[in-house]
Amino acid sequence: MPMLKIFVGTMYGGALDVAEQVKPLFENAGFEVAIYDQPSLDDLLGSPTDVALFCVSTTGSGDFPGNFVPFARELEEQSPGLASLRYGIIALGDSSYGETFCGAGRHLDHLLSEQGGKRLGERLEVDAMETFMADDAALPWVEEWIETQQLKVA
Ligand SMILES: Cc1cc2nc3c(=O)[nH]c(=O)nc-3n(C[C@H](O)[C@H](O)[C@H](O)COP(=O)(O)O)c2cc1C
Repeated sequence: MPMLKIFVGTMYGGALDVAEQVKPLFENAGFEVAIYDQPSLDDLLGSPTDVALFCVSTTGSGDFPGNFVPFARELEEQSPGLASLRYGIIALGDSSYGETFCGAGRHLDHLLSEQGGKRLGERLEVDAMETFMADDAALPWVEEWIETQQLKVA
């Protein structure tokens, strides 16, 4: 079974909730799914990863949540090269923060692509000003993502 890994960056649990809600969609599409809520770079690189999904909220002023800081730091410091990585991003934020809206998700997207990772489709940005429960936006997005990126395992 191909492996889909979900990496979570969260302060209050919203992004983890998204990861747990979308997990069955990937299982139904034929993936083995692992969720990492204290992710390290080794979780991504230490074993085969067919597709990675990052569910990451933003804190401070465009910053990564504390549990995601080690992953981001390792990525920046080690520059591992991610040419074989295929990934998606669900960024949680709040547009009332203005310019730093979804800053962590955007920064992560930049870091991953800088290392050669290939993003599948567009980034989903969930705005807490518009969407009370991030799952309401994430579930249909993942369903469509699986479809349009032809991720379903035959
Ligand atoms: C102290 C604090 C700082 C925040 N800073 C930002 C920010 O800079 N940009 C943004 O888009 N959202 C910001 N947010 C909003 C959160 O990213 C948003 O509420 C998100 O849904 C939280 O997800 P979580 O439950 O996974 O932590 C901030 C929230 C808090 C409480």
